[in-house]
Amino acid sequence: MEKLEILNELREFYAGKRIFLTGHTGFKGAWMLFLLRELGADVSGYSLAPLHKNDLYVLAGGESLCNSRIADIRDRESVEAAISAVRPDLIFHLAAQPLVRESYRRPLETFDTNIMGSVHVLDAMRRLPDACTAVMITTDKVYENMEGGFPYKENDRLGGFDPYSSSKAAAEICIASYQKAFFTPEIFAEHGKAVAAARGGNVIGGGDRADDRIIPDLIRAIEADEELKVRNPQAIRPWQHVLELLYGYLLLGMRLSRDPLHCQGAFNFGPCDQDEMTVEELVTTAIRIYGKGRYIHRSDAEKLHEAGILRLNIDKAMRVLDWHPRWSSATAAEKTIRWYRQVAEGENAALSCRRQILEYFGEEKA
Ligand SMILES: NC(=O)c1ccc[n+]([C@@H]2O[C@H](COP(=O)([O-])OP(=O)(O)OC[C@H]3O[C@@H](n4cnc5c(N)ncnc54)[C@H](O)[C@@H]3O)[C@@H](O)[C@H]2O)c1
Repeated sequence: MEKLEILNELREFYAGKRIFLTGHTGFKGAWMLFLLRELGADVSGYSLAPLHKNDLYVLAGGESLCNSRIADIRDRESVEAAISAVRPDLIFHLAAQPLVRESYRRPLETFDTNIMGSVHVLDAMRRLPDACTAVMITTDKVYENMEGGFPYKENDRLGGFDPYSSSKAAAEICIASYQKAFFTPEIFAEHGKAVAAARGGNVIGGGDRADDRIIPDLIRAIEADEELKVRNPQAIRPWQHVLELLYGYLLLGMRLSRDPLHCQGAFNFGPCDQDEMTVEELVTTAIRIYGKGRYIHRSDAEKLHEAGILRLNIDKAMRVLDWHPRWSSATAAEKTIRWYRQVAEGENAALSCRRQILEYFGEEKA
Protein backbone atom coordinates (compact mmCIF):
# COMPACT_ATOMS: atom_id res chain seq x y z
CA MET A 1 0.00 0.00 0.00
CA GLU A 2 1.26 3.52 -0.82
CA LYS A 3 2.71 5.48 2.07
CA LEU A 4 0.17 8.31 2.20
CA GLU A 5 -2.74 5.96 1.66
CA ILE A 6 -1.84 3.97 4.77
CA LEU A 7 -1.32 7.16 6.78
CA ASN A 8 -4.84 8.22 5.86
CA GLU A 9 -6.22 4.82 6.82
CA LEU A 10 -4.44 4.97 10.18
CA ARG A 11 -5.77 8.51 10.76
CA GLU A 12 -9.31 7.40 9.99
CA PHE A 13 -9.02 4.50 12.41
CA TYR A 14 -7.13 6.14 15.30
CA ALA A 15 -8.69 9.63 15.28
CA GLY A 16 -10.66 10.05 18.50
CA LYS A 17 -9.80 6.56 19.81
CA ARG A 18 -9.08 6.28 23.53
CA ILE A 19 -5.61 4.76 23.88
CA PHE A 20 -4.00 3.48 27.06
CA LEU A 21 -0.24 3.63 26.51
CA THR A 22 2.07 2.15 29.13
CA GLY A 23 5.74 3.14 29.07
CA HIS A 24 4.87 6.54 27.55
CA THR A 25 7.77 8.27 29.32
CA GLY A 26 10.31 5.88 27.77
CA PHE A 27 12.08 6.06 24.43
CA LYS A 28 9.67 4.01 22.30
CA GLY A 29 6.67 5.14 24.33
CA ALA A 30 7.39 8.82 23.72
CA TRP A 31 7.69 8.25 19.95
CA MET A 32 4.45 6.23 20.12
CA LEU A 33 2.75 9.12 21.93
CA PHE A 34 3.83 11.57 19.19
CA LEU A 35 2.64 9.18 16.48
CA LEU A 36 -0.72 8.58 18.12
CA ARG A 37 -1.24 12.31 18.59
CA GLU A 38 -0.32 12.84 14.93
CA LEU A 39 -3.14 10.40 14.10
CA GLY A 40 -5.58 12.29 16.33
CA ALA A 41 -5.88 9.73 19.14
CA ASP A 42 -6.75 10.59 22.72
CA VAL A 43 -3.85 9.15 24.75
CA SER A 44 -3.64 8.26 28.44
CA GLY A 45 -0.17 7.25 29.62
CA TYR A 46 0.86 5.06 32.53
CA SER A 47 4.56 4.83 33.53
CA LEU A 48 7.20 5.70 36.04
CA ALA A 49 8.56 9.23 35.86
CA PRO A 50 11.16 9.97 33.18
CA LEU A 51 14.67 9.14 34.39
CA HIS A 52 16.67 12.01 32.89
CA LYS A 53 15.97 15.67 32.18
CA ASN A 54 17.06 15.14 28.58
CA ASP A 55 14.75 12.13 28.01
CA LEU A 56 12.79 12.49 24.78
CA TYR A 57 9.46 12.70 26.66
CA VAL A 58 10.72 15.71 28.63
CA LEU A 59 12.58 17.41 25.77
CA ALA A 60 9.60 17.16 23.42
CA GLY A 61 6.93 18.19 25.93
CA GLY A 62 5.20 14.79 26.13
CA GLU A 63 3.25 15.75 29.26
CA SER A 64 1.20 18.30 27.36
CA LEU A 65 0.16 15.69 24.79
CA CYS A 66 -1.51 13.11 27.01
CA ASN A 67 -3.26 12.44 30.23
CA SER A 68 -0.19 11.18 32.08
CA ARG A 69 -0.34 8.98 35.15
CA ILE A 70 2.98 8.37 36.92
CA ALA A 71 2.55 5.03 38.69
CA ASP A 72 3.99 1.54 38.97
CA ILE A 73 2.84 -1.28 36.67
CA ARG A 74 3.54 -3.71 39.54
CA ASP A 75 0.72 -2.09 41.52
CA ARG A 76 -2.26 -4.19 40.41
CA GLU A 77 -4.94 -1.99 41.95
CA SER A 78 -3.47 1.15 40.45
CA VAL A 79 -3.30 -0.42 36.96
CA GLU A 80 -6.87 -1.62 37.22
CA ALA A 81 -8.15 1.75 38.46
CA ALA A 82 -6.36 3.56 35.64
CA ILE A 83 -7.62 1.23 32.89
CA SER A 84 -11.19 1.17 34.17
CA ALA A 85 -11.20 4.98 34.39
CA VAL A 86 -9.97 5.39 30.80
CA ARG A 87 -12.07 2.55 29.28
CA PRO A 88 -9.65 2.40 26.35
CA ASP A 89 -10.47 1.24 22.85
CA LEU A 90 -6.88 0.06 22.54
CA ILE A 91 -3.98 -0.63 24.87
CA PHE A 92 -0.32 -0.53 23.84
CA HIS A 93 1.71 -2.10 26.63
CA LEU A 94 5.34 -0.99 26.46
CA ALA A 95 6.24 -0.47 30.13
CA ALA A 96 9.03 -2.82 31.12
CA GLN A 97 12.47 -3.18 32.57
CA PRO A 98 13.98 -3.47 29.05
CA LEU A 99 17.72 -3.90 29.58
CA VAL A 100 19.57 -7.24 29.57
CA ARG A 101 22.49 -6.13 31.72
CA GLU A 102 20.19 -4.42 34.21
CA SER A 103 18.24 -7.68 34.44
CA TYR A 104 21.39 -9.39 35.78
CA ARG A 105 21.67 -6.70 38.44
CA ARG A 106 17.94 -6.68 39.34
CA PRO A 107 16.41 -10.04 38.31
CA LEU A 108 13.49 -9.99 40.78
CA GLU A 109 12.38 -6.52 39.76
CA THR A 110 12.74 -7.48 36.09
CA PHE A 111 10.55 -10.58 36.45
CA ASP A 112 8.02 -8.70 38.52
CA THR A 113 7.74 -5.74 36.15
CA ASN A 114 7.81 -7.69 32.90
CA ILE A 115 5.65 -10.66 33.84
CA MET A 116 3.24 -9.41 36.51
CA GLY A 117 3.09 -5.94 34.95
CA SER A 118 1.80 -7.57 31.76
CA VAL A 119 -0.64 -9.75 33.71
CA HIS A 120 -1.99 -6.69 35.54
CA VAL A 121 -2.72 -5.00 32.21
CA LEU A 122 -4.37 -8.13 30.77
CA ASP A 123 -6.49 -8.69 33.83
CA ALA A 124 -7.66 -5.09 34.01
CA MET A 125 -8.62 -5.45 30.34
CA ARG A 126 -10.51 -8.66 31.12
CA ARG A 127 -12.64 -6.77 33.66
CA LEU A 128 -13.60 -3.99 31.24
CA PRO A 129 -17.26 -4.06 30.24
CA ASP A 130 -16.47 -2.67 26.77
CA ALA A 131 -14.57 -3.97 23.75
CA CYS A 132 -10.82 -3.49 23.91
CA THR A 133 -7.78 -4.53 21.85
CA ALA A 134 -4.28 -4.86 23.30
CA VAL A 135 -0.90 -4.96 21.61
CA MET A 136 1.64 -6.30 24.09
CA ILE A 137 5.23 -5.40 23.28
CA THR A 138 7.77 -8.12 23.99
CA THR A 139 11.05 -8.62 22.08
CA ASP A 140 12.95 -10.80 19.61
CA LYS A 141 14.82 -12.15 22.63
CA VAL A 142 11.82 -14.33 23.62
CA TYR A 143 13.13 -17.11 21.36
CA GLU A 144 15.30 -19.89 22.66
CA ASN A 145 18.42 -18.70 20.86
CA MET A 146 20.21 -21.61 19.19
CA GLU A 147 22.86 -19.22 17.76
CA GLY A 148 22.32 -21.01 14.42
CA GLY A 149 21.81 -17.89 12.33
CA PHE A 150 18.46 -19.02 10.92
CA PRO A 151 15.53 -16.60 11.19
CA TYR A 152 13.04 -17.37 13.97
CA LYS A 153 9.37 -17.85 13.15
CA GLU A 154 6.54 -17.00 15.52
CA ASN A 155 5.91 -20.64 16.43
CA ASP A 156 9.54 -21.41 17.28
CA ARG A 157 10.29 -22.37 20.84
CA LEU A 158 10.38 -19.63 23.49
CA GLY A 159 13.22 -19.52 25.98
CA GLY A 160 15.59 -16.87 27.19
CA PHE A 161 18.95 -17.15 28.94
CA ASP A 162 19.13 -13.90 30.88
CA PRO A 163 16.36 -12.63 33.18
CA TYR A 164 15.20 -9.98 30.70
CA SER A 165 14.71 -12.44 27.83
CA SER A 166 13.09 -15.11 29.96
CA SER A 167 10.80 -12.59 31.69
CA LYS A 168 9.52 -11.51 28.27
CA ALA A 169 9.14 -15.13 27.14
CA ALA A 170 7.15 -15.82 30.31
CA ALA A 171 5.01 -12.73 29.64
CA GLU A 172 4.24 -14.19 26.20
CA ILE A 173 2.97 -17.40 27.79
CA CYS A 174 0.67 -15.31 30.00
CA ILE A 175 -0.52 -13.31 26.98
CA ALA A 176 -1.31 -16.53 25.09
CA SER A 177 -3.13 -17.85 28.15
CA TYR A 178 -5.35 -14.75 28.43
CA GLN A 179 -6.07 -15.01 24.75
CA LYS A 180 -7.07 -18.67 24.92
CA ALA A 181 -8.86 -18.57 28.27
CA PHE A 182 -10.66 -15.20 28.14
CA PHE A 183 -10.31 -13.46 24.78
CA THR A 184 -10.97 -16.42 22.46
CA PRO A 185 -10.97 -14.99 18.92
CA GLU A 186 -13.62 -17.51 17.76
CA ILE A 187 -16.19 -15.95 20.15
CA PHE A 188 -15.01 -12.35 19.81
CA ALA A 189 -18.58 -11.15 19.28
CA GLU A 190 -19.39 -12.22 22.87
CA HIS A 191 -16.51 -10.51 24.72
CA GLY A 192 -15.11 -7.92 22.27
CA LYS A 193 -11.53 -8.42 23.48
CA ALA A 194 -8.48 -9.13 21.33
CA VAL A 195 -4.81 -9.38 22.18
CA ALA A 196 -1.57 -9.95 20.25
CA ALA A 197 2.15 -9.83 21.03
CA ALA A 198 4.68 -7.83 19.02
CA ARG A 199 8.27 -9.06 18.91
CA GLY A 200 10.91 -6.69 17.61
CA GLY A 201 14.64 -6.31 17.69
CA ASN A 202 17.06 -3.57 18.55
CA VAL A 203 15.59 -0.25 17.64
CA ILE A 204 17.43 2.99 17.19
CA GLY A 205 16.07 6.50 16.93
CA GLY A 206 16.52 10.01 18.24
CA GLY A 207 16.09 10.63 21.94
CA ASP A 208 17.05 7.26 23.44
CA ARG A 209 19.03 7.87 26.63
CA ALA A 210 19.10 4.33 28.07
CA ASP A 211 22.30 2.92 29.55
CA ASP A 212 24.02 0.00 27.83
CA ARG A 213 22.64 0.74 24.38
CA ILE A 214 25.04 1.46 21.60
CA ILE A 215 23.65 4.72 20.13
CA PRO A 216 22.93 6.45 23.48
CA ASP A 217 26.38 5.31 24.69
CA LEU A 218 27.96 6.80 21.56
CA ILE A 219 26.08 10.10 21.93
CA ARG A 220 27.15 10.37 25.59
CA ALA A 221 30.75 9.67 24.58
CA ILE A 222 30.59 12.37 21.87
CA GLU A 223 29.06 14.88 24.31
CA ALA A 224 31.80 14.14 26.86
CA ASP A 225 34.51 14.10 24.16
CA GLU A 226 35.46 10.56 25.22
CA GLU A 227 36.07 7.29 23.38
CA LEU A 228 33.15 4.88 23.11
CA LYS A 229 34.14 1.46 24.47
CA VAL A 230 32.57 -1.21 22.23
CA ARG A 231 32.06 -4.63 23.82
CA ASN A 232 31.12 -6.87 20.88
CA PRO A 233 32.05 -5.08 17.63
CA GLN A 234 31.25 -8.07 15.40
CA ALA A 235 27.81 -8.85 16.94
CA ILE A 236 25.00 -8.58 14.39
CA ARG A 237 21.72 -7.05 15.52
CA PRO A 238 18.54 -6.39 13.53
CA TRP A 239 18.84 -2.58 13.73
CA GLN A 240 15.69 -0.76 12.79
CA HIS A 241 14.37 2.72 13.17
CA VAL A 242 11.90 3.06 16.03
CA LEU A 243 9.20 4.27 13.62
CA GLU A 244 9.40 1.00 11.73
CA LEU A 245 8.35 -1.00 14.78
CA LEU A 246 5.76 1.53 15.94
CA TYR A 247 4.19 1.48 12.50
CA GLY A 248 3.93 -2.29 12.92
CA TYR A 249 2.25 -1.89 16.33
CA LEU A 250 -0.24 0.60 14.88
CA LEU A 251 -1.11 -1.67 11.96
CA LEU A 252 -1.44 -4.63 14.31
CA GLY A 253 -3.74 -2.67 16.65
CA MET A 254 -5.96 -1.59 13.77
CA ARG A 255 -6.15 -4.93 11.98
CA LEU A 256 -6.55 -6.90 15.22
CA SER A 257 -9.49 -4.71 16.26
CA ARG A 258 -11.17 -5.37 12.92
CA ASP A 259 -10.30 -9.03 12.44
CA PRO A 260 -9.15 -10.78 15.63
CA LEU A 261 -9.42 -14.24 14.12
CA HIS A 262 -6.78 -13.60 11.47
CA CYS A 263 -4.54 -11.23 13.43
CA GLN A 264 -4.17 -13.16 16.67
CA GLY A 265 -1.02 -14.56 18.24
CA ALA A 266 2.47 -13.13 17.99
CA PHE A 267 4.11 -11.11 15.22
CA ASN A 268 7.78 -10.62 14.40
CA PHE A 269 8.89 -7.18 13.24
CA GLY A 270 12.41 -7.03 11.88
CA PRO A 271 14.48 -5.91 8.90
CA CYS A 272 14.46 -7.59 5.49
CA ASP A 273 16.95 -10.39 4.82
CA GLN A 274 20.45 -9.19 4.06
CA ASP A 275 19.85 -5.82 5.73
CA GLU A 276 22.29 -6.31 8.55
CA MET A 277 25.02 -4.34 10.24
CA THR A 278 27.52 -5.29 12.87
CA VAL A 279 27.88 -3.13 15.95
CA GLU A 280 31.13 -1.78 14.49
CA GLU A 281 29.49 -0.86 11.16
CA LEU A 282 26.71 0.95 13.00
CA VAL A 283 29.21 2.88 15.13
CA THR A 284 31.41 3.91 12.19
CA THR A 285 28.34 4.99 10.17
CA ALA A 286 27.07 7.01 13.14
CA ILE A 287 30.43 8.71 13.69
CA ARG A 288 30.66 9.60 10.00
CA ILE A 289 27.18 11.17 9.98
CA TYR A 290 27.59 13.04 13.26
CA GLY A 291 30.92 14.34 12.06
CA LYS A 292 32.78 13.45 15.24
CA GLY A 293 33.30 10.68 17.77
CA ARG A 294 35.75 7.79 18.29
CA TYR A 295 35.67 4.26 19.65
CA ILE A 296 37.86 1.40 20.87
CA HIS A 297 37.21 -2.31 21.33
CA ARG A 298 36.77 -3.00 25.04
CA SER A 299 38.14 -6.52 25.55
CA ASP A 300 38.18 -6.21 29.37
CA ALA A 301 34.38 -5.81 29.53
CA GLU A 302 32.38 -7.60 32.21
CA LYS A 303 31.60 -11.00 30.63
CA LEU A 304 27.86 -11.50 30.78
CA HIS A 305 26.18 -13.90 28.37
CA GLU A 306 25.03 -12.00 25.27
CA ALA A 307 23.45 -13.59 22.20
CA GLY A 308 25.74 -13.32 19.16
CA ILE A 309 23.20 -13.37 16.36
CA LEU A 310 19.45 -13.07 16.14
CA ARG A 311 17.35 -12.93 12.99
CA LEU A 312 13.59 -12.77 12.62
CA ASN A 313 11.37 -14.20 9.92
CA ILE A 314 8.89 -11.41 9.15
CA ASP A 315 6.68 -13.22 6.62
CA LYS A 316 3.65 -13.28 8.94
CA ALA A 317 3.63 -9.50 9.52
CA MET A 318 4.07 -8.89 5.77
CA ARG A 319 1.34 -11.34 4.79
CA VAL A 320 -1.28 -10.75 7.48
CA LEU A 321 -0.76 -7.07 8.31
CA ASP A 322 0.69 -5.83 5.01
CA TRP A 323 3.57 -4.39 7.04
CA HIS A 324 6.87 -3.96 5.22
CA PRO A 325 10.09 -2.37 6.44
CA ARG A 326 10.50 1.00 4.73
CA TRP A 327 13.90 2.24 5.92
CA SER A 328 17.11 0.17 5.61
CA SER A 329 19.41 -0.06 8.63
CA ALA A 330 21.71 2.47 6.96
CA THR A 331 18.78 4.92 6.61
CA ALA A 332 17.74 4.21 10.21
CA ALA A 333 21.26 5.04 11.39
CA GLU A 334 21.32 8.19 9.29
CA LYS A 335 17.94 9.47 10.55
CA THR A 336 18.87 8.68 14.14
CA ILE A 337 22.20 10.46 14.12
CA ARG A 338 20.80 13.45 12.23
CA TRP A 339 18.14 13.74 14.97
CA TYR A 340 20.80 13.91 17.71
CA ARG A 341 22.96 16.33 15.76
CA GLN A 342 20.08 18.67 14.93
CA VAL A 343 18.82 18.69 18.51
CA ALA A 344 22.40 19.30 19.79
CA GLU A 345 22.54 22.25 17.37
CA GLY A 346 19.43 23.70 18.98
CA GLU A 347 16.50 22.29 17.01
CA ASN A 348 13.31 21.60 18.92
CA ALA A 349 13.07 17.86 19.72
CA ALA A 350 9.31 17.66 19.08
CA LEU A 351 9.78 19.25 15.67
CA SER A 352 12.57 16.79 14.80
CA CYS A 353 10.31 13.86 15.73
CA ARG A 354 7.41 15.25 13.74
CA ARG A 355 9.57 15.81 10.67
CA GLN A 356 10.82 12.23 10.78
CA ILE A 357 7.29 10.87 11.28
CA LEU A 358 6.13 12.75 8.19
CA GLU A 359 9.21 11.69 6.22
CA TYR A 360 8.52 8.09 7.21
CA PHE A 361 4.97 8.27 5.87
CA GLY A 362 5.91 10.31 2.82
CA GLU A 363 4.46 13.68 3.93
CA GLU A 364 7.73 15.55 4.04
CA LYS A 365 6.69 18.97 5.33
CA ALA A 366 6.47 19.36 9.13
N1 LIG B 1 14.56 -0.33 22.69
C1 LIG B 1 14.74 -1.54 22.15
O1 LIG B 1 15.71 -1.77 21.42
C2 LIG B 1 13.74 -2.64 22.40
C3 LIG B 1 13.90 -3.85 21.71
C4 LIG B 1 12.94 -4.87 21.91
C5 LIG B 1 11.88 -4.66 22.76
N2 LIG B 1 11.76 -3.46 23.44
C6 LIG B 1 10.61 -3.32 24.33
O2 LIG B 1 9.94 -2.11 24.05
C7 LIG B 1 9.37 -1.56 25.25
C8 LIG B 1 9.84 -0.12 25.44
O3 LIG B 1 11.26 -0.10 25.54
P1 LIG B 1 12.08 1.26 25.58
O4 LIG B 1 13.29 1.03 24.78
O5 LIG B 1 11.21 2.40 25.24
O6 LIG B 1 12.50 1.33 27.13
P2 LIG B 1 12.64 2.58 28.10
O7 LIG B 1 13.49 2.14 29.24
O8 LIG B 1 13.05 3.80 27.36
O9 LIG B 1 11.17 2.80 28.63
C9 LIG B 1 10.58 1.94 29.54
C10 LIG B 1 9.26 2.52 30.00
O10 LIG B 1 8.68 1.60 30.93
C11 LIG B 1 8.35 2.31 32.12
N3 LIG B 1 8.49 1.44 33.28
C12 LIG B 1 9.57 0.71 33.66
N4 LIG B 1 9.30 0.07 34.81
C13 LIG B 1 8.04 0.43 35.16
C14 LIG B 1 7.19 0.12 36.25
N5 LIG B 1 7.59 -0.69 37.23
N6 LIG B 1 5.97 0.68 36.28
C15 LIG B 1 5.54 1.52 35.28
N7 LIG B 1 6.29 1.84 34.25
C16 LIG B 1 7.52 1.30 34.17
C17 LIG B 1 9.35 3.47 32.18
O11 LIG B 1 8.87 4.50 33.04
C18 LIG B 1 9.40 3.86 30.72
O12 LIG B 1 8.30 4.68 30.42
C19 LIG B 1 9.79 -2.50 26.38
O13 LIG B 1 8.75 -3.40 26.62
C20 LIG B 1 11.00 -3.22 25.81
O14 LIG B 1 11.20 -4.47 26.40
C21 LIG B 1 12.67 -2.46 23.27
